[in-house]
Amino acid sequence: MYDVVIIGGGPGGYAAALYAHNFGLKVALVEKERVGGTCLLRGCIPAKSWLKTAEVFAHAKKASEFGVHVGEPTLDWEAALNRKNVIVDGLVRGLSGLLKSRQVDVIEGYGRLAGGGVEVAAKDGAVRRLEAKNVVLATGSKPRSIPGYDFDGTRIVSSREALDWSERPNRVAIIGAGAIGSEFALILGSTGSEVHLFEMLDQVIPGAEPEAAKALAREMKKKGVKIRTGVGVGPAEVGDERVVVPFEGDYVEVDKVLVAVGRAPVTDDLGLETTRVEVDRGFIEVDPNTMMTAEPNIYAVGDIVAGTPQLAHAGFAEGIAAITHIATGEIAPVDYRAIPLVVYTDPELASVGLTEAAAREAGYDVEVHDHGMRGVGRAIIQGEVGGLVKVVSEKDGPILGATVIGPSAGELIHELMYAVAWEALPAEAAAFIHAHPTISEAIGETLLSAAGRSLH
Ligand code: NAI
Repeated sequence: MYDVVIIGGGPGGYAAALYAHNFGLKVALVEKERVGGTCLLRGCIPAKSWLKTAEVFAHAKKASEFGVHVGEPTLDWEAALNRKNVIVDGLVRGLSGLLKSRQVDVIEGYGRLAGGGVEVAAKDGAVRRLEAKNVVLATGSKPRSIPGYDFDGTRIVSSREALDWSERPNRVAIIGAGAIGSEFALILGSTGSEVHLFEMLDQVIPGAEPEAAKALAREMKKKGVKIRTGVGVGPAEVGDERVVVPFEGDYVEVDKVLVAVGRAPVTDDLGLETTRVEVDRGFIEVDPNTMMTAEPNIYAVGDIVAGTPQLAHAGFAEGIAAITHIATGEIAPVDYRAIPLVVYTDPELASVGLTEAAAREAGYDVEVHDHGMRGVGRAIIQGEVGGLVKVVSEKDGPILGATVIGPSAGELIHELMYAVAWEALPAEAAAFIHAHPTISEAIGETLLSAAGRSLH
């Protein structure tokens, strides 16, 4: 009898499995392929490897601006793909070793709830039953599409196939300028593809601060990405050699279409109908304090959970919260107010807490301060001055949210994460001294302005 059986070996599931060792729980982790889930196998990690290749290529192209002449760089797509695979394989091996050292039984097969436990169907058809005191569902999500764009694996694809393209497509249409669409637009645009990015709403990364989205769009355009916002596409016409994407009386002709319009939960074949677990359009409803579903002792974490962000690090935190409740009965809810969101474009766009619009909508009397990178010494040295910092605070109150767009924004955002999480007043946060010269000084400057005392 296991204390916990976890179905799904992605970030939510493996974090739960790893964390359980702190309490001496007997744990099984059921996974139908390699451990790692979407993030490690075909999401965050491989995408960031491709983004790094694109960044190095873009830097090599402008090396002469720094007085370094390297000639016209060429891209060895196959070498970049291999590097991505080596990184993923290494991390999978590391994770497998860690699970083993924590005495987690990793059981290969398809897991389904059955008779209070979990039934695991192996590839060879053999079915094994696991008795469990508690079950954590962590089966993740899969790409969804739109009418007229059924995935066929070659012409119309999701990020899953695009990460493994054996060569760079010359012409690509990307539908959806959320995190996935924007990251791929950067990868492909920077490395020389003709990229058409379509977004139904009125800016790239809808939901981000408009100033930051505008700055990102500007940088993307410089890399050759053709952005069309506020535009819906008609059904694709798929030929043997090409695809036609119609829109508003016009069309583009491309080699591949990447659909990135969001991800759907994977919950349709889990045996949920035999339980009291409540499901809303495929997403599982949980008590946010414990991650427990309406069926006692069945928990859900990660992308399948209704109403929480589909982010690996949110999944980690939810896995920890579920195990804490299972092991101790204590409530340790995830603090969703201060989960950073990073889009790993070039420049990176990172945010935490509320945007100005969200803060106003929530009824706050809002104050906003921002500072561009144009006057920041380190940004000038790096040749990356297109960014800015924006801090949203309550009038005479704490910092509610912040956005950074610029070099290393995904790292810089974490100091603002503390500010938001600890409800710091701008003057409290501004009291600390940032090293000079750093990009972080832009944050220091913005905080000083927010405290009513600007310097530069
Ligand atoms: P998303 O929800 O972030 O973006 C989808 C975009 O597609 C939206 O902007 C939406 O307005 C647009 N869209 C929907 N239907 C459309 C249509 N018919 N025509 C044109 N545009 C349309 O979803 P995405 O990018 O697929 O990512 C899935 C999930 O994975 C998200 O929750 C995302 O946050 C997460 N993710 C996070 C990353 C990160 O944190 N860096 C990287 C990749 C994914």
